[in-house]
Amino acid sequence: MQEHRNISRLIEVLKNASKKLIKGESIDPQIFIKGGSFITQYMEQKHHGKEEKMFDAMMNDYGFEKDKEPLRTFLIEHDQARSYTRALRQAAYQLDHKDNKSKEAVLHQASSYILLLTHHIRNEDNNLFPLADSKFSQETNKELLKQFIEFDKNFPEKPLLEKLYQLEDLV
Ligand SMILES: [Fe+2]
Ligand SMILES: [Fe+2]
Repeated sequence: MQEHRNISRLIEVLKNASKKLIKGESIDPQIFIKGGSFITQYMEQKHHGKEEKMFDAMMNDYGFEKDKEPLRTFLIEHDQARSYTRALRQAAYQLDHKDNKSKEAVLHQASSYILLLTHHIRNEDNNLFPLADSKFSQETNKELLKQFIEFDKNFPEKPLLEKLYQLEDLV
């Protein structure tokens, strides 16, 4: 899924920025703040929005309930991802305001996010989506695609991706 590939690129940005921070190289904390804001807009609002509002609703129609496995774990992980992102932005904001003690917190939140999302994306690509593929009818897939297109009108991809490319140039 293309959205997963884009978030993997953001994960690479966070990895590279973290490596520089560990080595003590100069790295603008704004990279973590802007990275966090890309995650919020692209991943949390756009991508997880679609998964939670539309994909999960379809799964529900096929007998998969949100508070039962496998959906339950994926939804818990979305919440965890949101809280890591919030904490990352806060810690990076403090680092940007010369609070050097926040360096550890930035690294901790960034690595928590990286580990969680890497695992989450792999699990969706290899397990959840293939499961849905094996259950959904052609009509369901068509309907889902229609809903995604409608949803994406509120989150045009291009301006968001421009921000990702700018971050990639900085690390
Ligand atoms: Fe997800
Ligand atoms: Fe996903």
